[in-house]
Amino acid sequence: MVNLNTQPGRVLSGMRPTGRLHLGHYHGVLKNWVRLQNEYDCFFFVADWHALTTHYETPGVVGEHVWEMIIDWLACGINPKLACLFIQSRVPEHAELHLLLSMITPLGWLERVPTYKDQQEQLRDRDLATYGFLGYPLLQSADVLIYKATEVPVGEDQVAHLELTREIARRFNHLYGVEPDFEEKAQEAARKMGKKNARLYHQLRRRYQQDGDREALEVAHALLDGQPNITVADRERLFGYLDGSSRELLPEPDVLLTPTAKMPGLDGRKMSKSYQNTIGLREPPEEVERKIRTMPTDPARVRRNDPGDPRNCPVWSLHQVYSDEETRAWVEEGCRSAGIGCLECKRHVIAGVEAELAPIRERAQAYEADPEHVRAVLVDGCERAREQARATLSEVRSAMGLEYR
Ligand code: TRP
Ligand code: SF4
Repeated sequence: MVNLNTQPGRVLSGMRPTGRLHLGHYHGVLKNWVRLQNEYDCFFFVADWHALTTHYETPGVVGEHVWEMIIDWLACGINPKLACLFIQSRVPEHAELHLLLSMITPLGWLERVPTYKDQQEQLRDRDLATYGFLGYPLLQSADVLIYKATEVPVGEDQVAHLELTREIARRFNHLYGVEPDFEEKAQEAARKMGKKNARLYHQLRRRYQQDGDREALEVAHALLDGQPNITVADRERLFGYLDGSSRELLPEPDVLLTPTAKMPGLDGRKMSKSYQNTIGLREPPEEVERKIRTMPTDPARVRRNDPGDPRNCPVWSLHQVYSDEETRAWVEEGCRSAGIGCLECKRHVIAGVEAELAPIRERAQAYEADPEHVRAVLVDGCERAREQARATLSEVRSAMGLEYR
């Protein structure tokens, strides 16, 4: 299908409000979002409905974390002037699109999504044999498609959900992409370009469709791009009529794969709430220091004089994130020769983490002190998001035959 998008791409991503954010989120997701907000038209949202699919028995959890999460985002440098920030359930259009897409979603597609069975097994203490949980990836598809996002930054674990999103978009476009009177409308649109251009357009179309002439297609694209007087919808029709692809109502988004978070936790495993090895973004300095001081080290270093090997030590993983080359060389040498003590070694990590967290903590405090401001930012974001969502939904309703009178 022809890509009509000459504007910067649109990015959409969401996060479930099921716990406090930690350094793993910062290094794995938020730093990436901060970078993207300068390059793309970004939409970032709190996926509160998604949280309910697994936390429906403890509804208080969601409300408790929504605002804290947004404060963390803002404190980490997400800028509401650059990115549209909103809350999923405040844009109820997501639910309507989810419903409409459910009409065309084969059950097997959902049952085959790997996270469906995996998560049910991992979260055995919760009953996830629910309709909502099965539909999770379809709700996610609606989140993405309703904004016509071109790029979705997610980690490896979400790639299958994006694959489903693409399949749903393809199926939708296949079923509803052709307007009943598409051909007449395309002819009419061609006439609006003026006699000469219309004739040229039809010639080029014939050359492409009958002789497979790619150059003719390119020339035709340039012709269409250079037409100031036709509407966006007409331009889309003319592109579609040209290559026989009809209209792409819901564009298929691409995955922007976020490199798997390399942020190690306090025990050397990946930092994650479920391992209880996290450092929270707003934890007080004394607490951060205590956590790092009590981190396990190379078990070979029982006494100060025992030499160690950084490769057997989780503190070393944190040096990879927070220390420069020189410090790392000092650690390697000092650890192996027992020239430095572990507390001495950890002091550098403590300082590095603190240097990163101090400004975040400080910015968060300003937002904590002004909850009305945070709420206003979200009211504004939700309204902007709704505008986009409403526009897509109106096209979808019409394509699915629901705008009858
Ligand atoms: N499922 C995502 C996660 O667990 C969160 C999410 C919901 C999302 N909707 C989305 C991410 C749409 C990207 C796009 O992390
Ligand atoms: Fe770990 Fe540093 Fe102690 Fe070596 S000196 S064991 S790297 S904390």
